[in-house]
Amino acid sequence: MADKVRVSLHPLVQHKLALLRSELTEPKKFRELVREIAQLLFYEASEDLPLAPLTVQTPLGSAQGYEVAERVGVIPILRAGLGMSEAIIDILPTVHVWHLGLYRDHETLQPVTYYNKLPKEPDIDLSIVVDPMLATGGSAVAAVDILKAWGARRIKFLGLIAAPEGVRALSHAHPDVPIHLAAIDSHLDERGYIVPGLGDAGDRQFGTG
Ligand code: PRP
Ligand code: URA
Repeated sequence: MADKVRVSLHPLVQHKLALLRSELTEPKKFRELVREIAQLLFYEASEDLPLAPLTVQTPLGSAQGYEVAERVGVIPILRAGLGMSEAIIDILPTVHVWHLGLYRDHETLQPVTYYNKLPKEPDIDLSIVVDPMLATGGSAVAAVDILKAWGARRIKFLGLIAAPEGVRALSHAHPDVPIHLAAIDSHLDERGYIVPGLGDAGDRQFGTG
């Protein structure tokens, strides 16, 4: 495993991941679990965020504290990344969320871009691409390509479950991008689904399919 790949071994992540995978988990609970795991992974992935000193007044006096000193952008790959970005903006409300619409062509498994409203100039210091599933890696590689062409310099990828094929593809195309995951599974099936995975992350969040 490349040294930029980090699989969380946190007991809460692993406990919630098993519930997320279960076919008995209905969309409402599934969305809740996506949010909770995304927040736990973001907590780990944000441990190197720089801080600036901040002084606040408590009811009893002055207290020295800190604030996050970088502009953080979260880039959900639509649709399935939406639940993760909403969870992250809830715990760090200063993040900028820039949506990227990519879907996998069912025949070729190649990513197709259908929505990109990134502003003209990069307005963030750290970009975090979020998508629950890293399968062939095509969508993640395309998203990072788009961000780099836009001018993003520091980029991280946050996903829930990956196939070894996806980890290899993203690490090979973008060795500078750290990959944070809750699990790396066995393999991809003939339709490009992660085994055992959790099925279709978009359909399970939004009750489609
Ligand atoms: C899923 C998933 C990723 C992509 C992963 O999206 O959310 O974006 O597939 O596959 P890859 O690594 O092989 O590119 P999908 O295309 O099903 O779109 P959706 O989220 O809109 O359902
Ligand atoms: N996209 C999903 O939602 N699930 C997979 O297993 C692969 C791609």
